Amino acid sequence: MNESTIRVRLMKNDDFDAVVEIDEKVLKTSRQEFYEIKFEKLFKSKEYLPTSLVAEKPDGTVVGFIMGQLFMGEYGIFEDEANLDTIGVDPDYQKQGIGEMLVNEYMDHLKELGVRKVNTLVDRNDAKMLHFLNSNQFSASTTIVSLERIL
Ligand SMILES: CC(C)(COP(=O)(O)OP(=O)(O)OC[C@H]1O[C@@H](n2cnc3c(N)ncnc32)[C@H](O)[C@@H]1OP(=O)(O)O)[C@@H](O)C(=O)NCCC(=O)NCCS
Repeated sequence: MNESTIRVRLMKNDDFDAVVEIDEKVLKTSRQEFYEIKFEKLFKSKEYLPTSLVAEKPDGTVVGFIMGQLFMGEYGIFEDEANLDTIGVDPDYQKQGIGEMLVNEYMDHLKELGVRKVNTLVDRNDAKMLHFLNSNQFSASTTIVSLERIL
């Protein structure tokens, strides 16, 4: 598969099954309910602008996705910070530049909407994801420190 034949477009409600399937292939466990809640929030709430994207082959098969939120503040003005909360590329199509393509298109799209900063959270032990994000110009936040309390 040549990277140039992959098209990135806005995610639709109909992409639900493909997203759940890719996530399951990546994590080897199904998170159908997690995505039901996410899709409900993204596609039914008026508080968020659709920003999530999918990468598809010419035959329409979805091979990757990126999801995040751009919250609409008071008076219908979008905030200048957004987040990236989930990304996944079908393991059969990884290491071909699709992940980078999704991140770049997501950033371009948000920039056009006036966003100046994109936050994401990543597990400190997830070396693969940390490496991917660092390669895609994410660096440790100077404003957010993640705190936790063990119960
Ligand atoms: C992280 C992830 C999104 C990366 O997707 P990807 O499509 O493989 O990303 P890219 O192809 O852009 O980059 C990955 C690597 O392939 C390399 N690559 C890109 N195109 C290449 C090509 N044509 N030939 C060889 N290598 C290539 C990149 O340089 C990069 O290498 P590096 O790791 O040494 O820096 C993917 O591995 C994934 O889905 N991981 C699981 C994420 C997850 O846990 N999601 C659920 C919770 S959020």
